[in-house]
Amino acid sequence: MNVYDSARMAEILAPLGYAPGDDPEDADMVILNTCHIREKASDKVYSELGRLRKAKARRAEEGSPMVIAVAGCVAQAEGEEMLRRAPYVDIVLGPQTYHRLPEMVARAHRAGDGAGAPDQRGVLDTEFPADSKFDHLPDRQDANAVSAFLSIQEGCDKFCTFCVVPYTRGAEFSRPVAQVLEEARQLVDGGVRELTLLGQNVNAYHGVDEAGQEAGLGTLVERFAALEGVARIRYTTSHPRDVDDALIAAHGNVDALMPFLHLPVQSGSDRILEAMNRGHDVAQYLDTVARLRAARPDLALSCDFIVGFPGESDADFEATLDLVRTVGFTMAYSFKYSSRPGTPAAGMPRQVPEDVKDERLARLQALLEEQRQAFNAETVGRTLDVLFERPGRHPGQLVGRSPYNQAVHVATTEHQVGDIAKVAIDSCKPHSLEGHIVGSGSAQPREDSEERLSA
Ligand code: 5AD
Ligand code: SF4
Repeated sequence: MNVYDSARMAEILAPLGYAPGDDPEDADMVILNTCHIREKASDKVYSELGRLRKAKARRAEEGSPMVIAVAGCVAQAEGEEMLRRAPYVDIVLGPQTYHRLPEMVARAHRAGDGAGAPDQRGVLDTEFPADSKFDHLPDRQDANAVSAFLSIQEGCDKFCTFCVVPYTRGAEFSRPVAQVLEEARQLVDGGVRELTLLGQNVNAYHGVDEAGQEAGLGTLVERFAALEGVARIRYTTSHPRDVDDALIAAHGNVDALMPFLHLPVQSGSDRILEAMNRGHDVAQYLDTVARLRAARPDLALSCDFIVGFPGESDADFEATLDLVRTVGFTMAYSFKYSSRPGTPAAGMPRQVPEDVKDERLARLQALLEEQRQAFNAETVGRTLDVLFERPGRHPGQLVGRSPYNQAVHVATTEHQVGDIAKVAIDSCKPHSLEGHIVGSGSAQPREDSEERLSA
């Protein structure tokens, strides 16, 4: 979502004459769009700021100012404190106020000119405004990609005990159906063929449609699929509790909805799931997976895991490994539990020692890696629809994505970026597949994809 937000910030600043650049050390303005989810991500912000401080001082000597802005969830969480700790930062803004960036930049410039009042030195805007930023954003301009993100939902009311998102991104909010369809149309007009619908809790989507009725994600996916030019739809990140019948049905019925789903479970132990306040147990997760696979037998699953949540015993961790073996994941992200200030889990007893976390993470990642490689190996010999996204490193080579989101390298002169082709997979490398063209694909991969993985 930060990638999406950054693109939108660039669009907002374009009329002011700013364009994205490559070299932060030599930029008129640098925006750090930050993540607060784990301590490591948060810590990076201050080391990055230290570097920028030097660049800013050097530029000031040369007579060219640099505006430093910190956006995103670290800015939201630290607010005023960030301006105190790093007084050379000009703007601190949260994830819900970036539509006001032009105004903040103007204020920062006035303060920098010495024209502003002393208390205007650092501009701070970390409100949760009553009106949505989405009502104030310009049309999409970054539409020269084949695949694009589109935020449809933001924030979270789930309050998992380890997680800062409900505090930094704010309460759950769904954009209206007409608004997100219009954004999709702008993207498709610019050549986008694949949309990834975004939300912290994307399947909690409940936006109001044109008739004033609430629409769920299943319905919304159908509406996106009906738009001319939309070949592929993905969504992320979903919560097991919000997988409803309509969404499962969409996985069975909507050809453009790709057979790949990121469905985080975090832990395979009921006790830990309870302490995490996930609102479901292992049996319910497995049941949801079974119903999804019944609707779409070749569905590939990916997941998020946390090891070393407070109180996690060896047996709890073994239960997580069991769940991984039972479900089988195409890929997954796994993390050591990171204590976040202000969350309930930070104050829980029986915090797990770092070396135990390290050991568990290594074991879990070894198992997940084995499954990932096995899945890639299974695709060798199959024919898959590949959407080409960019030229490869070698002349005459294109790189695209399989329906299961695997990178596929193909030598072809008859196809171009944006095409979908049928590709026979010849071999797999650790992070990509290679294949050759056997026919032209279609926007409807379901109908003519000749084979499926069985569950
Ligand atoms: N510690 C470790 N991992 C976390 N995540 C969220 N909060 C924490 C935390 N405090 C992970 C979860 C989530 C992903 C986005 O980040 O697995 O699904
Ligand atoms: Fe955080 Fe996701 Fe839980 Fe919401 S559902 S609190 S975003 S982990």
